[in-house]
Amino acid sequence: MIPKDCRRLAEVDFPIAEVSRHAVREKSIRHGHPSTLHLWWARRPLASSRAMLLGLLLPDPCDPKCPLEFKEQAPKLLRQVGSGNPGTTDAELRRALLKFIGDFANWDLATNRTYLDVSRALVKVAHGKEPPLIVDPFAGGGSIPLEALRLGCDAFASDLNPVACLILKVMLEDIPRYGSKLAELRDICNEIKGSAEKEIETFYPAGTDAARPVAYFWARTVRCESPNCGAEIPLVSSFWLSKKSTHRRALRPSVLRRPGEVPWVGLEVFEPSSEEEVPPGTAANGRAQCPCCGGVIPPKRLQTLMESQRNGVDVQFDPAGQRVGGARLIAVAYTRPGVTGREYRLPSDNDYAPVLAAHRRVRQLEDAKVAAGTTAFPTEPVNPIRPSPNARGLSAVTRYGVKTFSDLFNARQKLSLYYLASAIRLEERSTDRNRSAAADLVAAALGKRADYSSGGTRWHLTFEKATCTFSKQALSQTWDYIEPTAVGFTSGSYGAGLETVLQAVETLAAAIPSPGQTSVADAGHSTLPDASASVWFTDPPYYDAIPYADLSDFFFVWLKRALPSNRDFIDRTDPETTLTPKREECVWNSAYVVEGKAKDGAFFERCVAGAFAEGRRILRDEGVGAVVFAHKTTEGWEALLSGMVRGGWVITASWPIATERSGRLQSQGTAALATSVHLVCRPRSEDARVGDWADVLRELPNRVGDWMERLQSEGVRGADLVFACIGPALEIFSRHAKVETADGREVALAEYLAKVWEVVGRSALAQVLGTAEAKARNGAAGAVEEDARLTALFLWTLQSTNGESAEAPSEEGEDEQSADDEEDEGGSSGRKAKGFTLVFDVVRRFAQPLGIELPKWEGRVIETKKGVVRLLPVAERAKQLFGDDGAQAVAARLERETAVGTNPLQELLFPDVEAGPKVRGRPSGGKRTGTVVSDESLATAGEATTLDRVHAAMLLQAGGRTNALRALLRAEQERGPEFLRLANALSALYPKGSEEKRLLDAMLLAVPR
Ligand SMILES: C[S@@+](CC[C@H](N)C(=O)[O-])C[C@H]1O[C@@H](n2cnc3c(N)ncnc32)[C@H](O)[C@@H]1O
Ligand SMILES: [Zn+2]
Repeated sequence: MIPKDCRRLAEVDFPIAEVSRHAVREKSIRHGHPSTLHLWWARRPLASSRAMLLGLLLPDPCDPKCPLEFKEQAPKLLRQVGSGNPGTTDAELRRALLKFIGDFANWDLATNRTYLDVSRALVKVAHGKEPPLIVDPFAGGGSIPLEALRLGCDAFASDLNPVACLILKVMLEDIPRYGSKLAELRDICNEIKGSAEKEIETFYPAGTDAARPVAYFWARTVRCESPNCGAEIPLVSSFWLSKKSTHRRALRPSVLRRPGEVPWVGLEVFEPSSEEEVPPGTAANGRAQCPCCGGVIPPKRLQTLMESQRNGVDVQFDPAGQRVGGARLIAVAYTRPGVTGREYRLPSDNDYAPVLAAHRRVRQLEDAKVAAGTTAFPTEPVNPIRPSPNARGLSAVTRYGVKTFSDLFNARQKLSLYYLASAIRLEERSTDRNRSAAADLVAAALGKRADYSSGGTRWHLTFEKATCTFSKQALSQTWDYIEPTAVGFTSGSYGAGLETVLQAVETLAAAIPSPGQTSVADAGHSTLPDASASVWFTDPPYYDAIPYADLSDFFFVWLKRALPSNRDFIDRTDPETTLTPKREECVWNSAYVVEGKAKDGAFFERCVAGAFAEGRRILRDEGVGAVVFAHKTTEGWEALLSGMVRGGWVITASWPIATERSGRLQSQGTAALATSVHLVCRPRSEDARVGDWADVLRELPNRVGDWMERLQSEGVRGADLVFACIGPALEIFSRHAKVETADGREVALAEYLAKVWEVVGRSALAQVLGTAEAKARNGAAGAVEEDARLTALFLWTLQSTNGESAEAPSEEGEDEQSADDEEDEGGSSGRKAKGFTLVFDVVRRFAQPLGIELPKWEGRVIETKKGVVRLLPVAERAKQLFGDDGAQAVAARLERETAVGTNPLQELLFPDVEAGPKVRGRPSGGKRTGTVVSDESLATAGEATTLDRVHAAMLLQAGGRTNALRALLRAEQERGPEFLRLANALSALYPKGSEEKRLLDAMLLAVPR
């Protein structure tokens, strides 16, 4: 037993870089990975969960209270894996243990016998015979409890969401119990799947020759409204079918006209030899363009037209079975014996016949009741309200007419889900436990079929297979979609889905020695007794980022039809909506009202505080806790931390672990978090003392400074670094019962956090520009002006962990934007604005305490819209800096007048402004002084700042005005060191590959030495 005051390894050190590397790599592993069992959003990697658990479970050998038994046994065990040298000293043993933790985070070793045995034996030496209980009350897809079981611990996993609970039950209970009889399970699963296949087969016929269709390409359609046209426009975002380098295929539209008839858009399949040969799609930026007349249907009208067809995912047939509108088949992908890869052909009437048959069958079944008041197809309504500013949930498709979950699938897709659900339903109550466990597994495959075959499924252009509906944590509105066949084994079929599930079962069965316990429960009301858990390790929702319950309904509507006697579904279904429970969900989701108020950030905070208080109650006296969190706003962090502190916890350590490939998150210069912070915590002791504000403030800068240095050496950068500093800062604050000022005023957490952001900002500035800037607050001598500090901080925050450029291009297959993306990002022009962006909340937290007044720089260096701040690209500053004459004219003058004054540029910049640069926004203090704003940098009206001059030089470089540039640089050298100091600092900050960096570096080369 580890004594209460003995520190755990994760409280003193952690192999951040090594575990990050494994965690990121794990994201690209599919085959057999437990996450392939069923989709759950934002799962934590197993690598980081396993490593953190070991760090929490094992004592630090350097701690004087570390049990001797552990120090004796651990080296012997470690020698079995040859992971580092346990040596002879405590420090050496600590290092070897950390090395083991880092090595074992590797997915390739996750089922390695020796590593499994050694890790379980280490846990046993530390905790005794009785396995420690690990509790995760926000268990979701189950990464944490799964790893607890792997390490030989007991696990208690609960979640509010019944879909998550089904995943947890299959993974943590069924598989460890029945997984050893995999062959038998496999047979039963195939039997269930086989009976559904028999029903659906006729609707997905094989075709007359040996060719087998694998996916049908559909386009939603609208009628052109131009006078004298009226053509049916197939809405297509891209005419590409395959971009495989050896096998390029695309569709070419042509206009067929017959006298007296409306024109028709004909199609042919061809082999393009270049990108240019493929015509642009007919739908983009929320509008549609008619290929026949060029007429445009604007966004609002397009929405109305889609609404009138309930999103238009289905074909419309007349009573005689003739297609009269709605979705149109545009291509069919098929396989042929002896030919690898996919081939493409145009659809024929034969392809519509089974679709018509499916429509008729759906109509017959529509009124059928399959179980207690449940219809065959999901008539449950989709909530049209956008959950929060940072999440879309299901709301995007409702703007285009989706009303119920049925509207998300075409008739044949619905039928394929119905038959699979029916086959499962026949077995789910079987008294043979193997059969009911198999039914759960096929239910997981049912989820896959829904995900890979809906009105939002796309075709991966290089892999030539279906991609899932949820490539994001939201439903996107698409124009064209693909419908994979349900039969056979190609992607999206029943068979492919089931095979993926069974592979995951196989790896899981090999890794988990005995089952855990799962339960559907609100994290704020645990069923566990007091002081029962050794480790409370959890990953709560990230504020407003993911509306789990809304998203899960996409699956729930089918699963509840397949498993009507599942207790979790029965107990938890919201009686009003017959969907998953929403009110108790611990997220900001304005679509739901609790106690008369829409759920917001304050609700989230209350909810996590309740869960943390429960965690504290059920934790044993000597136990430890850990919480994973990631959020891109400081508000999200403040809500979480205040919940933790209110719940009675002290933060003792924190480790940022990279869990995402940063380039992938968001392309194009937006700060995206690649790490999740793991906060290690302990119950705050009853006799914690009152802290002195002055002491706390004194300790803060050093702690943050040291921490930044350590993390940077491990490759953590930018916004990730900012949020990773919260841990050590909170260690200082949270260990006190409360913190008071000299005159006895209690300091609120929010006030402290404001200080933390300030200290982080100052440290960053000191690093990139020097100490004077970090101290500067309106007018410190020797500091560059506000705009330079703002720009430097902005770029510093944008830097990304993993060293990937902020401008990394988006991945293949994700480059086709969906309608709702475009609408969100496009503004009026519909095109994405250039420049780097950060959330306003983050910029504001930094700027204010460092004396940077954002409104002053609005329109000059930044532009704020919808809560996002954009750093204006240098190119966009040309007119501002040089006026309408443009850089060329200015350069010409510069070249002529190289002899003028100390700085020729000074008189030439801002030509359009009479008394100084035009700055939009209000000056602080409320006094408007025309277009001039008084502040340190612009004290003398019209004086350009150092940043302005650096940008001007970059523009001269861009314009190829070498002589003018030289003249300017000479003048700057005479003037002082500021110009070069800033230019060099910015060169280190502008993302690699950015136009700015290129210009700046070229300009610096021109500096005379
Ligand atoms: C970040 S996810 C956990 C992900 C998990 N660690 C994984 O790797 O898959 C948060 C989970 O909290 C659940 N949740 C939200 N509110 C809850 C509540 N009040 N009680 C219990 N669980 C809740 C959500 O359903 C979601 O599964
Ligand atoms: Zn037209």
